[in-house]
Amino acid sequence: MEIIVANTAGFCFGVNRAVDSVYKNIQQQPLYTYGPIIHNPQVVEELREKNVIPVHSVDEVNEGTIIIRSHGVAKDVYGAIEEKGLNYIDSTCPYVKRIHKIVDEHSKKGYQVVIVGDRNHPEVQGISGWSNGEAIIIEKPEELEGLNIPKTKPICLVSQTTYREDRFESVLKALKEHHYEVEGFNTICKATSDRQQEAVKISKMVDKMIVIGGRESSNTRKLYEICKNYCKETYHIETIKDLELNKFNSNDKIGITAGASTPARIIKEVITAMNDLENHTNENFEELLNQSFVTLRSGQVVKGTVIN
Ligand code: F3S
Repeated sequence: MEIIVANTAGFCFGVNRAVDSVYKNIQQQPLYTYGPIIHNPQVVEELREKNVIPVHSVDEVNEGTIIIRSHGVAKDVYGAIEEKGLNYIDSTCPYVKRIHKIVDEHSKKGYQVVIVGDRNHPEVQGISGWSNGEAIIIEKPEELEGLNIPKTKPICLVSQTTYREDRFESVLKALKEHHYEVEGFNTICKATSDRQQEAVKISKMVDKMIVIGGRESSNTRKLYEICKNYCKETYHIETIKDLELNKFNSNDKIGITAGASTPARIIKEVITAMNDLENHTNENFEELLNQSFVTLRSGQVVKGTVIN
C-alpha cells in the first residue's frame, strides 16, 4: 500500500489563527464565537466543553467577549457589538478583510457588487454585508441570465475565498461577453487554489482518495467534487469512524487530503488506520477499526510519498 498525503492537508493560516485566538483567550469567560469557530463539529464540541459557546446573533450575548471567526462578518455586526458594549476579538482572515475593503470601496463609488460563491455560506453573507447597496450573489454563470443589471452600472466582481477557480473565471467571462464593464478581483485564496491543485494532482495518481473534513465545510466539499472527477473511488469522511476500511486493500495506492478546517489529529487518525491496515491485512476489519483508536500513537511517522 502506498499512501500519499497532501502537503496542503489541514488548517490554513486563517483558520489556525482563529482557533489559536480562542485557545489564547479561553480564560476570558464568558467567551463566545460568532458562529462555530470552524466547520468541524469535533473541535466545536471540544470548545463547548470549555465553555466557548457559538452564537448566531449579537442578541444572544449580554456580556463577555465575542470572537469573530476567520469567515468574517457584515459591517453591521460590528455596530451591534459596539452598541451593546461587548468586547470582541477580530479573527477575520486578512484575505477576507481585503474583500470587505474592495466591496466597501467599490460600492461607495457606485459599482454593483457581484459575489461568486455559495449564497448560504457565512463568509459570503459577511462580504455581502459590506456592500453599500444590495450585493448580487451567484453560484454559477447560468444564473446571470435571469439578472437585470443595468449596463450603465460597472460591476465589481469578487469571489468567496474557497470557491472554485473555474466558476469564478466562467462568470467573469460571461459578464464580459454580455458587454458589462466589469472589474474582476479573483479573491480565491492561494491556500485554497494550492490545495485544489494538489488534490487534482494526487487524485489522478491514486486508486482511492480520502477527503477529510466537516460535512458543512464548503472547501472540503469542493475538494471532494474535484477529486471525484479524477478518482472514481473518492470518500468524504469527517473522522476515521466514517471510513469503511473493508473497501481498502494492501495493493491500493491511496491519496489523502483534508479541508482547511480539519485538525491535524483527525488526519493523523486516518493515516494511522491506513498504516495499521497494511500491517494487518488478513485480520478482521471491524476489530482493526476499533484497534486503530486504542493504538493511536502521537508523533507516528507518516508513511508514503509526499507530493511537493
Ligand atoms: Fe483565510 Fe484562505 Fe484560510 S482566506 S481562512 S487563509 S482558506
